[in-house]
Amino acid sequence: MKESFEELDLRGKRVLVREDLNVPLEDGRIADDTRLRAAQPTLDALRKMGARVIVMSHLGRPEGRPDPKLSLRPVAEALGARFVDDCLAPVGAVADGEVVLLENVRFHPGDEENDPEFARKLAAQGEVYVNDAFAASHRAHASVVGVADYLPAYAGLLMLAELEALHRALDEPRRPLLAVVGGAKISTKAGVLEHLLPRVDTLAVVGAMANTFFKARGAEVGASLVEDTALETARNVESRGGRKLVLPVDSVIAREPVPGAETRVAGVDGIEPGWRILDIGPATIELLREHVEGAGTIVWNGPAGVAEVPEFAQGTRALGEAIAASGAYTLVGGGDTAAAIEKLGLHGFSHVSTGGGATLEAMEGKQLPGVAVLKEAEGG
Ligand code: 3PG
Repeated sequence: MKESFEELDLRGKRVLVREDLNVPLEDGRIADDTRLRAAQPTLDALRKMGARVIVMSHLGRPEGRPDPKLSLRPVAEALGARFVDDCLAPVGAVADGEVVLLENVRFHPGDEENDPEFARKLAAQGEVYVNDAFAASHRAHASVVGVADYLPAYAGLLMLAELEALHRALDEPRRPLLAVVGGAKISTKAGVLEHLLPRVDTLAVVGAMANTFFKARGAEVGASLVEDTALETARNVESRGGRKLVLPVDSVIAREPVPGAETRVAGVDGIEPGWRILDIGPATIELLREHVEGAGTIVWNGPAGVAEVPEFAQGTRALGEAIAASGAYTLVGGGDTAAAIEKLGLHGFSHVSTGGGATLEAMEGKQLPGVAVLKEAEGG
């Protein structure tokens, strides 16, 4: 367990908080405020404690140069925070309970380079460091990792919630433990599959990833998305997985993944040329429902089909509804899974991770650098 800032007396102290406020922007407006809402509990708690709160974050990938389109100014407005237009600029007097947001740390190359001099200057903005940016903690950047060389480093509430959810799901799961892994590519999730296989009771692979397994078995998959470079990985996972591995038994196919396309239910072999597998079929939904209903813990990462097109969202919707209603401890993770459940209006999960890449790395069993620098709680 990492030590929470809540144990400290922070009244009148300058607390430098790393949040992940990397929100999607459309025409300068915040298109999805999930990450702002997720940051709120830590900011509220610090405010209540009378701390002087100085928040830093990145937004997008400006490559070390100021880019007005990636300014955090609209985020400061949404948070009701005072905005400082350069993360190294003097912040001036901060009142007890006030929240200040610094401009995008990635406007300086020193952040991503984890430059010690940049980290030292950034750290000079505070007296205590709180990392609440779980979703950025796979990055060994100055604002995540480097500042901890100069300041005592504590975990924020979102960070603790994310770590607790991973612990409950993967280290001490109520059994049976079911993992459902979907999405387009095996290559980006090979590490996750490998780490999960020995830990889970059942591993269900869905989404376009499954097509590569079908092809590796010698099936005819038509024009379906297949990763030819990952056929060997698929064969390995299948032979190591044995009876633990569950693959789709039918599919929804079409010629194009577009709204209004003609669809058919088909098997997972003998797909005609020009047709593609774009979602799991009804028999697969039934099969997964049985596994979901019997599970004690479910980890779900990756949609079951092209969930952004209504014709191919049924599998993801049915799977999500079954997982949410299962009564199991449920951890949903990964950027596209969170976006899909948001779009489909699914809720009722035990924990939806705010992390994309960070959650995947944690599910690969990797120690995240931004977590490693935090103090351990006593007795934890
Ligand atoms: C994310 O959105 O996954 C995090 O904010 C990390 O962003 P990055 O991939 O640009 O480091």
